[in-house]
Amino acid sequence: MNVYHFEDLEKKAESILAPHPFTYVRSGSGDEETMQDNVADLRKWKIRPRFLQDVSKRDLSISLFGKTYKTPYFLAPIGNLGIVHPEAELAVSRAAKQVGIPIIASTVSSFSMEEIAAEAGDRWFQLYCSSDWQITLSFVKRAEQAGYEAIVLTVDMPALGYRAADLTNQYAPFRLGAASGNYFSDPVFQNKLACPPSQDFHSAIGEQVKHLFAPGFTWEDVATLRKATTLPILLKGILHPADAKKAMEYKVDGLIVSNHGGRQLDGCISSIAALPAIVDEVRGRIPVLFDSGIRKGADVVKAMALGADAVLLGRPYVYGLAIDGEEGVKTVLDNFIYDLDATVATAGMRAVSELNRDLVVRDIDRNYI
Ligand SMILES: Cc1cc2nc3c(=O)[nH]c(=O)nc-3n(C[C@H](O)[C@H](O)[C@H](O)COP(=O)(O)O)c2cc1C
Repeated sequence: MNVYHFEDLEKKAESILAPHPFTYVRSGSGDEETMQDNVADLRKWKIRPRFLQDVSKRDLSISLFGKTYKTPYFLAPIGNLGIVHPEAELAVSRAAKQVGIPIIASTVSSFSMEEIAAEAGDRWFQLYCSSDWQITLSFVKRAEQAGYEAIVLTVDMPALGYRAADLTNQYAPFRLGAASGNYFSDPVFQNKLACPPSQDFHSAIGEQVKHLFAPGFTWEDVATLRKATTLPILLKGILHPADAKKAMEYKVDGLIVSNHGGRQLDGCISSIAALPAIVDEVRGRIPVLFDSGIRKGADVVKAMALGADAVLLGRPYVYGLAIDGEEGVKTVLDNFIYDLDATVATAGMRAVSELNRDLVVRDIDRNYI
């Protein structure tokens, strides 16, 4: 088994990808304060193991919305994967299926959600609400028909973050068609075009970009979406406990604590710093998932000890895809599963469901108080 630390993965991906696509994946918004804090703040928590408990049998499984999953890992929605590998989401889906990890397919994927579904095992659909409700509703219906089992509504992108590195590089993969899989295949979107994208790519991309963001989207739109589907809805990008409370008032089924891997609001709170207050607000009434900064098994144990029900992997699997397509993703996922199993055991725990706050302490001044 090839073992990769995150730094190795990143270096290897950098040596394979062209500079602009690599930077698009690696970078965060602004001067990357939040992106760095995601990782640094996870390291401020330390695991305080318990020993002399029989850990000969370990259980990494979790249950969400009445379904049991083999591990607490989900693959985070990542748009534009066609810039990383020609098989993009198809390779990711095949690898995830092999190891039994669900994918969350992005709205701005390179292949369509139906093409992805044909390769995928368990799957959720991530929704960026379009400024056009008819497109949004069409995406939701298509996701239902293609067997996606939950809608992950990403709320932290009312506009694109200030992506300094991409601005410097003048690099916008959206404009290259890397995010068009769902749009170009959508009947509602197609009706807006004078001719098909194959005949006038430029106008089709212009039309897509016009509809990509919905800065006017509000809680009332969440209520509309709630009525439009019976699938569970999770809000991704929640960082404030008051928003967690509101989400429950609006009958949302789950939350994903995330700051988009530090790609949206630079200077905002790290994801792990946001987690405990949200878990306290929610008090187990709906699942709370977590991402942004997960780099190894210990990070998963820390997030779950602080109350996360599951975690999303982001950049690590994208680097696996860059390095060796489906095999590369599978290697990264195998590593993460192995690492988590070993970390749970060496923390003296038998199951991820046993992880709790007593297992972690804040390493501020090493007084552990
Ligand atoms: C290249 C890239 C593209 C992304 N695209 C999306 C997307 O389409 N939808 C979404 O909700 N989040 C998107 N995200 C955010 C991820 O879902 C996830 O929150 C983030 O990668 C977690 O941070 P980490 O990769 O540093 O662990 C993207 C992240 C990256 C790195």
